[in-house]
Amino acid sequence: MEIAVEASRTPAQLPNVRVAVLGAGKMGGILLQAFLKENLFAAEKIHATVTHAERALALSTQWGVDVSTDNVEAVRQADLILIAVKPFQVPDLIAEIRPAVTKDQTVVSIAASVKTRSIEEASGLEIGVIRAMPNTPSALGAGIAALCRGHFVSDAQMELAQRIFQTVGRTVVVEEKHMDAVTGLSGSGPAYLYIIIEALAEAGVKVGLPRDIATQLAAQTAYGSAKMVLETGYHPALLKDAVTTPAGCTIDGILELEEGGLRVTLIKAVMRATERARQLAAG
Ligand SMILES: NC(=O)c1ccc[n+]([C@@H]2O[C@H](COP(=O)([O-])OP(=O)(O)OC[C@H]3O[C@@H](n4cnc5c(N)ncnc54)[C@H](OP(=O)(O)O)[C@@H]3O)[C@@H](O)[C@H]2O)c1
Repeated sequence: MEIAVEASRTPAQLPNVRVAVLGAGKMGGILLQAFLKENLFAAEKIHATVTHAERALALSTQWGVDVSTDNVEAVRQADLILIAVKPFQVPDLIAEIRPAVTKDQTVVSIAASVKTRSIEEASGLEIGVIRAMPNTPSALGAGIAALCRGHFVSDAQMELAQRIFQTVGRTVVVEEKHMDAVTGLSGSGPAYLYIIIEALAEAGVKVGLPRDIATQLAAQTAYGSAKMVLETGYHPALLKDAVTTPAGCTIDGILELEEGGLRVTLIKAVMRATERARQLAAG
């Protein structure tokens, strides 16, 4: 997904932090572009990497930051190392950068399933490793990232990591044992909700609405309902009850949802994704 990056005249919020984004693919790219859009880091302090040289060149031109295939060089100049390669690619990546890593650096890994301990051990250092699980709405500042800390993370490092992800949405701090569940819920969650929005829009078409109107109605309804849950703090069931008039139309709709097993289906979806998240680091 591409979002427009506009040059900003205001100074970067963290002007002195030098960042290596190792693996500027879908999620790494989304975060990097969002950081640029929010003016979090100075563009000249960012060095991103990918595996394909031609992609590096294209991204460098597009984003106006240094993008190369040289992980060691990127790490050598960095205070913060953001690991955004696929989980199974993490061990080789750490082995490659190990000679350039120092214990004064901070590692933030967004790789699903990869434990902080495995990164600490592979680096051979008492280095601060924070594991984070962001999601794709970070592109628009509406993401949520869960963070957990490794053994050697200082409070200042944790604050830095939270600040970084707060730039692109909300953050929660969890124990590492919950990270796979977070992956199954909010990491994968946008995909579930796109399917629900798409299905509601399809339903709108079925009952006669033009598709563009149906899609807007479905998407804004999802957005507004999520906003109600977050901003009122009310239990979702209470908010649902407020829409559901006795003998009205909503209760008939709810009857169909319950008969179709929507709740159980969503619970099982998160359970399956959580299970899969546990296995990802093994490839
Ligand atoms: N997608 C999501 O919604 C999401 C959400 C949360 C967390 N994550 C996590 O984010 C990570 C990346 O996922 P993704 O969906 O963004 O995958 P992706 O699009 O395949 O991105 C991986 C990137 O890593 C690059 N890469 C691979 N090996 C490398 C190496 N040794 N050195 C430097 N760059 C290397 C690839 O380069 P090329 O482009 O040249 O091939 C590619 O750009 C995963 O660990 C995933 O668990 C993803």
